[in-house]
This record gives sequence, C-alpha cells and structure tokens, in this order.
Amino acid sequence: MNKTPNILVTGAAGFIGSHTMVELQQAGYQVIGIDNFENSSSRVADQITAITGIATHIEKIDIRDKKSLNEFVNTHKDIAAVIHFAAYKAVGESVQFPMKYYENNIGGTVNLLEAMAANQINNIVFSSSCTVYGEANPPVDETAPVQQATSPYGNTKQICEELLKDQSQATGLNVISLRYFNPVGAHDSALIGELPIGVPNNLVPFITQTAIGKRKQLTVFGTDYPTADGTCIRDYIHVVDLAKAHLKALEYQLAGKNKQSFDVFNLGTGKGSSVLEVVAAFEKVSQQKLNMVFGPRRTGDVVQVYAACNKANTALGWKTERTLENCMQTAWAWEQALAAKENK
Ligand code: NAD
Ligand code: UD1
Repeated sequence: MNKTPNILVTGAAGFIGSHTMVELQQAGYQVIGIDNFENSSSRVADQITAITGIATHIEKIDIRDKKSLNEFVNTHKDIAAVIHFAAYKAVGESVQFPMKYYENNIGGTVNLLEAMAANQINNIVFSSSCTVYGEANPPVDETAPVQQATSPYGNTKQICEELLKDQSQATGLNVISLRYFNPVGAHDSALIGELPIGVPNNLVPFITQTAIGKRKQLTVFGTDYPTADGTCIRDYIHVVDLAKAHLKALEYQLAGKNKQSFDVFNLGTGKGSSVLEVVAAFEKVSQQKLNMVFGPRRTGDVVQVYAACNKANTALGWKTERTLENCMQTAWAWEQALAAKENK
C-alpha cells in the first residue's frame, strides 16, 4: 500500500488554511488539522468533507497551550511536515492590543517549533506577508529589503521569520516562508471562504458586504495617489491559487529540493490592480453598480505593491491560474451563500 505523508495544518479552519486542507486532501495527503476556532467555525471541517468527499476532523487545540499542543503532536508521531497558518491578522487590532498579537503569533510559533523539535518533525511552511517589504519598488522580488514594520502584526511576521531562521540554523529545520500578497476570492463550491470578524478592513470583503447590503457603501481610500486612476495598487491573488502554492512548497520541501534550509517565496500574480479596477471587476461579474464614495487616504497605506513571482514560478513550478474577475465572482458567490444561510 502506498503510504502518503501526514501533514499537520495549524489554523486549518481559517480562510487560507481551509482551502489548503482541500488541496492537500485532493492531492492524496493525510491531513491533520488543528484550530482553536477563535476566528473561524468548527463547521468548516464538514464543508471540507463536502468538497473532497474525505472525512475531515479539525481538532480544537490552541497553540498557545503548550501542554495540549505537545500532547497532540506527540500522539501523531508520523507527521512529515507542518503548514503553519494559525495567527491573528488584523492590522488595526494589533496596534490597539500589541501583546495579544505577540503572544499568539510569536508565542504560538515558539510552542509549535518546540513541539516539532521534540518529535523530530523537520519541515515547516510558514504564512508570511508582503507587508515585510513596506513601501518597495514593484515588482517586488525576494531580494527586496525587509523594512521596519509599521504595525505589531507586521512585526510578528518579521520576528517569526527571524526565529524560524535561527531554528533552522540551530537544528537543520527546513523552512519555507511564503510571503503572500493580497489573498482574495473563495472556493468554487462557495462552501468555504473568508469570514471577516466585524467590519472588514480589507477591500474585497468590504465590497461584497456592501453589495449584499451589510454595509451602506464602500469608501475608496484616496484618489490622489500617483497611479493611473489615482487609487492604490495591490496584487490580488486567488485563495485557491495560493493554496496550490502551499502544496508545491510542501512537495519541494519533502523532495529535499530546497537549496537552503531557510527560504522565502513571494506569492502573488505579478500584476497590480487599482482599487477602481477591483470595483469594476466586481461590477462586471455581479452585474450591479456598487454604492461607492471617494474618501481621504487611509493612514499607513503604501501606494503600490505587486510581486515578482519568478522564484516561485521557476523553483516550485507554480503559477497562478485565476483572473481578477474570477476572484470577484467567487468572493461574490461566497457572500451570497453566507447570506442565504443567514436568512434560513
Ligand atoms: P484566518 O483568521 O482566517 O485563519 C487563521 C486561523 O487560525 C483561524 O481559524 C483561527 O481561529 C486560528 N487561530 C488563531 N490563533 C490560534 C491559536 N492560538 N491556536 C489555534 N488556532 C488559532 O486567517 P487567514 O487569512 O487564513 O490567514 C492565515 C495566515 O496567513 C495567518 O498567519 C495570516 O497572518 C497570514 N496572512 C494572511 C493574509 C490575508 O490577507 N488573509 C495575508 C498575509 C498573511
Ligand atoms: C492589508 C494589511 C496588510 C496585509 C494585507 C493583506 C493594513 C494597513 N494592511 O493591506 O498588512 O498584509 O491587507 O491581507 O490593513 N481600500 C479601500 N476601501 C476599503 C478598504 C480598502 O479603498 O474599505 C483600499 C486600501 O486603501 C488599499 C486597497 O483597498 O489601497 C487594499 O486594501 P486591503 O484589502 O486592506 O489590503 P492592503 O492595504 O494591501
């Protein structure tokens, strides 16, 4: 019988974690998911099962709870690699409650690395962010310098990269840090997607919540930027493309193809889109006008950032397949599915 490696996924019920669980299962991996369900729903496991037809269980474990985490990892002796998503991610909240972010994002990662070391688990794929580059000249590749973080959240990503690097030097741990640009969209089934807590800060959920009537209007933050239409430019990557990149990174690592024990890859589309282009794509696929007003710039926003992804394209053999319109179409289908459930 062919034995496929066991992969531990932290934050498995979250937005990117759940889509990655699907891709891993569909590729034949045995997946062990953990989550504390603080920012997600325990029902996500059933949705994953509905998509893949493979019975899915996500164990309720808080990675800050060292004892439970150790016990859990210890009882699953044959884990080949960990994909580590579990973290808090709200930039604004991190400014208000920095210790909460340092405790969870850094403390949780330290606990995880200790549990891995104690159980000889030698591979980890980590969720980092393009936020580490700050205001850089796009297209941004992995040689761009890491800038002073502008929020505690951003700082947790930088510090985690540093501590992963130290651990890889000390123990030979293989680390791939994936620096995501702007993950958006949802699974084609509309069974899993992003679940923003409270009022969304991010553009795409704000657009779909406005269209469904949860928000009055979208405010475009700044129209006087030095870009073609005056609005900021970002690199919006479909969450399914992003999930597939995790699979490629894992395969690269498990095949021992990594050239260095700590490596980073940018994950984006390589194409920048302005806020108004995102709105136009949404209006096209949803065939409705979005209620929108123009407002002042948001403090801390960079003018434009998009990825150079040649490294991931070449080394991992990965490239994005989805368009911006597909991102908006799947995000909109997900928002409508959520509304239909709420109205039942
Ligand atoms: P998410 O909030 O949807 O998922 C994170 C999951 O981790 C949630 O299900 C949450 O309940 C869980 N979690 C949080 N703390 C935990 C803990 N102590 N123990 C166990 N589970 C815990 O977020 P996401 O968008 O899926 O992001 C996943 C990762 O990617 C995060 O590390 C995030 O910082 C990073 N990232 C996200 C984006 C983005 O825009 N979504 C961009 C760059 C990087
Ligand atoms: C945010 C985070 C960043 C994170 C990234 C991807 C901040 C300051 N930064 O950045 O750390 O890595 O998401 O998850 O939160 N916009 C509007 N109106 C809105 C919302 C957004 O015009 O209501 C604009 C923003 O000004 C920006 C663009 O849309 O130009 C995208 O915003 P957002 O989705 O928040 O992503 P980032 O700014 O890239």
